[in-house]
Amino acid sequence: MILAIETSCDDTCAAVVTAGGEIRSNAIASQGLVHDRYGGVVPEIASRHHLELVDAVTADALESAGVGLDAIATVAVTRGPGLIGALLVGLSSAKALAAARRLPLVPVDHLHGHVVASTLGDDPIAPPYLCLVASGGHTFVARVDDPGTYAVLGSTLDDAAGEAFDKGARVLGLGYPGGPLIDRLARAGDPSAFDFPRSLPGSGGAPGLDFSFSGLKTALLYRVRDLGGSETERRRADLAAAYQEAIVAALVARLGQAIGRERVSRVALGGGVAANSRLRAAAAELCRDLGVRLWVPPLELCTDNAAMIAAAARFSPAIDYPHYLGLDAAARLDVAA
Ligand code: KG4
Ligand code: ZN
Repeated sequence: MILAIETSCDDTCAAVVTAGGEIRSNAIASQGLVHDRYGGVVPEIASRHHLELVDAVTADALESAGVGLDAIATVAVTRGPGLIGALLVGLSSAKALAAARRLPLVPVDHLHGHVVASTLGDDPIAPPYLCLVASGGHTFVARVDDPGTYAVLGSTLDDAAGEAFDKGARVLGLGYPGGPLIDRLARAGDPSAFDFPRSLPGSGGAPGLDFSFSGLKTALLYRVRDLGGSETERRRADLAAAYQEAIVAALVARLGQAIGRERVSRVALGGGVAANSRLRAAAAELCRDLGVRLWVPPLELCTDNAAMIAAAARFSPAIDYPHYLGLDAAARLDVAA
């Protein structure tokens, strides 16, 4: 069994997963409310909370799985990308757990975790497949021919899709994280009430698969300024619905182009934005129309979690004791290492 730890941002996560991909436990302590007060994640506060929570969350993961450390053959941990202080807490904890039992350690690329989340459970996706990963820090379409790696076909040139949700929510006076709040508010709104730009960079010339979301946030800012306080208040649900629609339309357009170009029959979603109800519905419709099968992970495997880190560890090289003791966390990793 694999014990995995993930602390790249503001969620303290630990999970126990079998070598065959069965999730035995997937524990998460979210710090969302702590950071809500500041309108975003405060790195130093996140690190301190990870430090306070990581032992308890790991114990919880083992207890929920009904196993002790003696049942664990491998320890996996997110090495990056993410907040360096936050990553260091998880990495140090994982090293200590592994070293105490002379177990091998698998350092995992957080994004690889999002890419292979759908390989877990009793209906796992198998390569070749395409994965649209949309999270708070990253947005890209990747091709997976071997679950040990992934090739990025196109990615955002500026803001990530989750960042666009979070910044849009701030403009609309909602809390943090903004994605789930816009998702909920948008259900009461009309997505065609406002026309926000669907920027698809390069679509005029070279048919690239990149994204751009920073102009969208600016468009919302201008629209809110033009509407004024009371009108913005009155039309907040319409603004949320139209803004969400523009993000989802760009994601789904690129996914459709990638499917057409790569000619695969399997597609997966990943990352926190894959929890978005409108994206889930639009991607399902696209894949139905194109005749490809879509894997949409359950919500707890879309947002940050340690089960997906264990999933990636199954396909990644392990480092034997004691060679991992000097291993460092990395705020940035070369994508598709
Ligand atoms: O993957 P994730 O948990 O963390 C990162 O690796 O970044 O993604 C977090 C992002 C946040 O920007 C959050 O607003 C967004 O995912 N998110 C959503 C929804 N749930 C989470 N965005 C839109 N709709 C949602 N339901
Ligand atoms: Zn993530």
